[in-house]
Amino acid sequence: MNKQNTKESGCISITAPSNIAIVKYWGKKEIQLPVNPSISFTLKNALTKTQVFYKHNTSQNKVSFQFLFNETPNKVFEKKLITFFDRIEHMVPWIKHYHFDIHSTNTFPHSSGIASSASSYAALALFIKELHKIVTGTIMYDKDCSNIARIGSGSASRSIYGGWNTWGKSESYPESNDNYAININNTIHPNFNNIIDSILIVSNTSKKVSSTVGHQLMENHPYKEGRIHQANENTAKLAETLSQGDWNTFIEICELEALSLHGLMMSSTPSYTLLEPNSLAIIQKIREFREETGLQLGFTIDAGPNIHVLYPSLNKIEIQEFINSQLKPLCHKQTVIHDEIGEGPQIM
Ligand code: DP6
Repeated sequence: MNKQNTKESGCISITAPSNIAIVKYWGKKEIQLPVNPSISFTLKNALTKTQVFYKHNTSQNKVSFQFLFNETPNKVFEKKLITFFDRIEHMVPWIKHYHFDIHSTNTFPHSSGIASSASSYAALALFIKELHKIVTGTIMYDKDCSNIARIGSGSASRSIYGGWNTWGKSESYPESNDNYAININNTIHPNFNNIIDSILIVSNTSKKVSSTVGHQLMENHPYKEGRIHQANENTAKLAETLSQGDWNTFIEICELEALSLHGLMMSSTPSYTLLEPNSLAIIQKIREFREETGLQLGFTIDAGPNIHVLYPSLNKIEIQEFINSQLKPLCHKQTVIHDEIGEGPQIM
């Protein structure tokens, strides 16, 4: 943080990472509360960099801002930010007397299967936490910062911490809560400390159906209750697996969650598919390669066609050879983004 920062004006820069969920958040209640618990790990290289110039203005009674993504105004995000600031004002009432010039960029391409809303809102929540310290002289709790990020985007609640995190009340984690995510690194076996995520870009076109609409379609989904039950069971199983270091069960849960998510999309009304023929071809090849070699690798998929291959860094050489020779040719322009578990956001 810049030493000249005062209550009156200053500049704060944050880099916040995206995350990838193993147990998926899918479906909401009330304002951005999850219908089921989720578990994710934070990435290292997929980052949003946000720089905010702030200025105090006593004569204004509503937060004002300008938002630039890659130095270009972005109307869609700007509209979302108006709602976001309205919704968090009661938590940080001082915010209404401020003007923000927000400059944001991502280190990863658009529509790459990496959730940019997670990293963007985590960055903004951390900026608010930093400014809160300057304005009020008190330090905001992580759970309050996660709560602010969650109001922007559900998955962002998990991106304010590094390593492994859970969001949503579950029996497996007594401290867990629907309002904010908690860090669970102290429950994780070392086998899951060095996990790699190679993201295979099957298509880079924008999603046909956004996650926001996908969440809404869960409201009257015929499998809604079954899904909530399944996600709770998978959370319990994954919590145990992560603490025991069992990669085989981890892979089972991972793939079941990913394909269940897409199954829910296909059985929504209206029904839709985000997977592409090459997504399925890649899944087949991963499963065959695992059968043949006994190596520990599995996949997960977010709300899009791109495949995240997950494996321990111990098997990096063999698995990246397989990815390069067999999976890369099935990717759009042979694009693969290698990422790994990361330590969380940074305040510059
Ligand atoms: C499939 O967090 O993007 O990635 O709360 O509407 O912003 P909003 O949705 P978002 O949904 C993420 C869904 C998911 C699974 C997950 O990250 O848990």
